Amino acid sequence: MVENVKAEISDSSNRAGEMYGWYEGMEWNPVEKVILERRSVRKYKDEQVPEKLVRRILEAGRFAPSAGNSQPWRFVVVRDGKMLEEMERYVRLRCRILKFLLDWEGGPLGRLAWLNSQLCIRLMPNELHPIPYGAIRLIAEGKLKLFHGAPTVILILMDRRGVGKPMVDVGICGQNMVLAAHSLGLGTCWVGFVELLNFGTKWKKKLGVKWPYRLMEGIALGYPVGQPDGMIARELHEIDWWEEGRKRTVF
Ligand SMILES: Cc1cc2nc3c(=O)[nH]c(=O)nc-3n(C[C@H](O)[C@H](O)[C@H](O)COP(=O)(O)O)c2cc1C
Repeated sequence: MVENVKAEISDSSNRAGEMYGWYEGMEWNPVEKVILERRSVRKYKDEQVPEKLVRRILEAGRFAPSAGNSQPWRFVVVRDGKMLEEMERYVRLRCRILKFLLDWEGGPLGRLAWLNSQLCIRLMPNELHPIPYGAIRLIAEGKLKLFHGAPTVILILMDRRGVGKPMVDVGICGQNMVLAAHSLGLGTCWVGFVELLNFGTKWKKKLGVKWPYRLMEGIALGYPVGQPDGMIARELHEIDWWEEGRKRTVF
């Protein structure tokens, strides 16, 4: 897939290839291929991932860089189907509550929901951006699964005492695992909504989430159904490039 896109660009115009930083005859190395071809997988085979592979993926996470080498993470692996279902049910319930409180368009609270949403959007502009809010609605309505049927889930707990910006460290750590999984022929999907489990005393206890830890992210892991991987469009952001006292813009 990457080859196709690359060929398309360099065939159609060398200038376009240059614009992307690609050049004629260039080969993607295995690391670049993994980075460019990984996609989120939302359909998994009913087949467990061998423990050995999960351990390798966790090792990739453990070796992630972090500010001051503070390694502000802890992992919890869940491979118990019943437990995953219960976690999913709990998150769906939380999403239903959020939808009830905030759904000003069709919900029963009407104007009160509109006022709630205005307040919450100001307090949590990122969490309640239309994309996550849309997903909250879909989860609440049972139209979007939390773990997408993956047989293994890696939960990442963040140590809030991490040096500087532990959220960044946790993101890097997770991406190391996601890329390692892809390189091993596995599919993954980040699951940000596991954060809602932090509201459940039972779940916090069961998953060992206590100060200084907070459950930040989940990574669904399994064998993908079909062939979801391949390069997709990304926004082309302008890059300011300073060299020898001059600035130019590249993409
Ligand atoms: C921090 C983070 C949280 C995410 N949470 C979810 C989630 O809860 N559910 C989901 O289906 N996808 C989730 N995603 C996947 C994104 O939707 C996906 O990465 C994005 O649409 C780009 O698609 P790609 O991963 O196939 O390149 C998350 C991704 C990240 C990085």
